[in-house]
Amino acid sequence: MSAGDSRICALATVGELAATLVHEIKGPLAIADGYIQLLQNQVRDDRSRDICQKVRSQLEHIDHLVQGLLYVARAQRPNRRPCRPEETVRNAISLIQATALARGVEIRVSGLARTPEIHADPGQISQLILNLLLNALEALPLGGIIWVRLRCPESLQAVVLTVADNGPGIPEDIKDRLFEPFVTTKEGGTGLGLAICRNIVDQHGGRIRIRSGKKGTLVRVTLPMSGLPVTDSPAVPVAGC
Ligand SMILES: Nc1ncnc2c1ncn2[C@@H]1O[C@H](COP(=O)(O)OP(=O)(O)OP(=O)(O)O)[C@@H](O)[C@H]1O
Ligand SMILES: [Mg+2]
Repeated sequence: MSAGDSRICALATVGELAATLVHEIKGPLAIADGYIQLLQNQVRDDRSRDICQKVRSQLEHIDHLVQGLLYVARAQRPNRRPCRPEETVRNAISLIQATALARGVEIRVSGLARTPEIHADPGQISQLILNLLLNALEALPLGGIIWVRLRCPESLQAVVLTVADNGPGIPEDIKDRLFEPFVTTKEGGTGLGLAICRNIVDQHGGRIRIRSGKKGTLVRVTLPMSGLPVTDSPAVPVAGC
């Protein structure tokens, strides 16, 4: 059994526990939110209304956290079908283009010519790309640049997606734990984005590598066309960063 397979098995066990826990937490959360909403509608002064709103947004944050935990822990099986990676990349970019413009961040795209079909879950691949784009966007100051590149090296029989930025880089103290759930440096961040990415890539038999320094961050995702795992054999070189 590969390291990826045993990770998925471990997650499946944790998934049972997480599913029960999420179920038990969501009920009381919804009830608490209902009561606060009731109170919010009854109080007259702005300060009290504001406090109610703050409590509600914290409850919403907990709700997102437990949902995300469930997503990571369940290691959802992808619903694979033939899809074109460049279409998924284009869609994901179009979703964040307006936010990027508003923040003065430029997205430069290359290699989005017609790529071969891969056997993958387009919804999951889209979520993967979005998470990477959002991380880059959130790290960048005004005038920052994101490079998105898609390649299809024949020797790999895989599609290689890179998302790079010229932001400040990933803080040293979390570099070793990036794919663990709840590792975040952002106020209001869940720290689940990269854990979910890793999960999706594992489920597709792919690889994800991150290299980061003071001049920016580069994430490289290798997805096999067949859906079979990218192997470590020298004939099929692993796309490290
Ligand atoms: N491109 C990047 N540049 C700089 N730091 C990054 C980049 N991508 C990830 N990070 C760092 O890795 C941490 C974990 O990222 P991850 O996507 O898992 O969670 P998050 O972005 O904090 O929260 P979420 O994605 O759940 O909203 C981030 O908080 C950030 O510190
Ligand atoms: Mg993120």
